[in-house]
Amino acid sequence: MFSSDKKPKVLNVGIIGTGIFATETHLPTVKSIPTLKVVACFNRTKKKAEEFAKKANIDPKNVHNSIDELFANPEVDIIDALLPVECNLSIVEKAIQYNKPLCFEKPIANNLESAEKIVELCKNSKMPILVLENFIYHKAVEIVKKNLKKIGDLIAFTYNSTGPFNEDNKYLNTSWRQHPNHIGGFLSDGGVHQLAYLTEILGQIESISAHTKQVRKESGTDDILFSSLKLKNNDVIGTFTYGSAFGATSKSTYLKVYGTKGTLFFDFSPKNELPIIKLKLGEYVKDYKKEEIIEINNKEDRSGVKSEFLNFYESVINNDKSLLKSTPEKTFHHLAVIDAALKSSAADGASVKVECLA
Ligand SMILES: NC(=O)c1ccc[n+]([C@@H]2O[C@H](COP(=O)([O-])OP(=O)(O)OC[C@H]3O[C@@H](n4cnc5c(N)ncnc54)[C@H](OP(=O)(O)O)[C@@H]3O)[C@@H](O)[C@H]2O)c1
Repeated sequence: MFSSDKKPKVLNVGIIGTGIFATETHLPTVKSIPTLKVVACFNRTKKKAEEFAKKANIDPKNVHNSIDELFANPEVDIIDALLPVECNLSIVEKAIQYNKPLCFEKPIANNLESAEKIVELCKNSKMPILVLENFIYHKAVEIVKKNLKKIGDLIAFTYNSTGPFNEDNKYLNTSWRQHPNHIGGFLSDGGVHQLAYLTEILGQIESISAHTKQVRKESGTDDILFSSLKLKNNDVIGTFTYGSAFGATSKSTYLKVYGTKGTLFFDFSPKNELPIIKLKLGEYVKDYKKEEIIEINNKEDRSGVKSEFLNFYESVINNDKSLLKSTPEKTFHHLAVIDAALKSSAADGASVKVECLA
């Protein structure tokens, strides 16, 4: 990418929305990447932007009074937006207006209509625009996919991500999450991560039959989802269960895939120090005792956030949007699953087709 005598170019980042995730995850991650530098910011409540600027060593003149001012700052090469998702469409429009590469936080949008507009806008622009869906970048994705080849033809799966309600969780206590303007509230906020994992590993979803329900008033809307699914390009069927609104229980996140020649169990529950794959290979019960265990050492980038920034950098520096992994089209499908699940639940669990633009 670079000639050996030349230092890689540093891209200057402008951050929009200096809330929890910007301060606790994006700032330290960007600081850890020598080719990125945070130089400017904007936040609706300016005091928070000023506090963020101190932590980021941003020149006070680059703490902006409006989103337009930040986009127009010639020192800023790329924009990183972390806003309540109903703001995503207008941020994409601004990025195109100012011709500045943008990455913005998942879910792609607050509803499917806005998500479709975002996909269309991005399709018609040559500029890299990345949806920050960090689960796509987890090291485990490729390792699980490779090991799935060992279990023969895939038959069925069960995906589970369930946990207890945690009233002290600071994300849960943000007012935009408790009074959601985005479909499904927590079901889309956190559910799209799990659907990114599921679809990256097994492929897109054709249809869903679901029941959703609100357990906690703090969730603002339905907060648990139980469903059965059909995948798109094969005969694979499965279940998807999601929610962290239950009473005391241990957080449990796993994918179990059944094949004609064995079973793969991928457990990434927080109780495990590292995510783990357990393979039982063979066609019959007599093979049951043979088990292969693979630990996935993801210590370098557990969240995938560093990898997503490196992917965005690579795409911007080469001015090649085809290098982006977490595309608007892909992330549209994750939100479309939630949209279809809500529609199915409203129709007492009837099967609903999941939209797909990729
Ligand atoms: N990938 C992940 O794992 C992950 C994890 C957490 C969050 N996220 C994403 O990161 C983003 C921010 O989440 P967060 O948890 O950090 O929330 P947060 O702390 O509430 O931050 C949101 C920021 O947006 C600003 N804001 C709120 N409404 C606005 C509006 N109408 N116009 C302009 N600015 C507005 C807030 O400004 P004020 O200070 O004025 O309220 C706040 O600074 C979300 O998109 C979320 O989905 C991703």
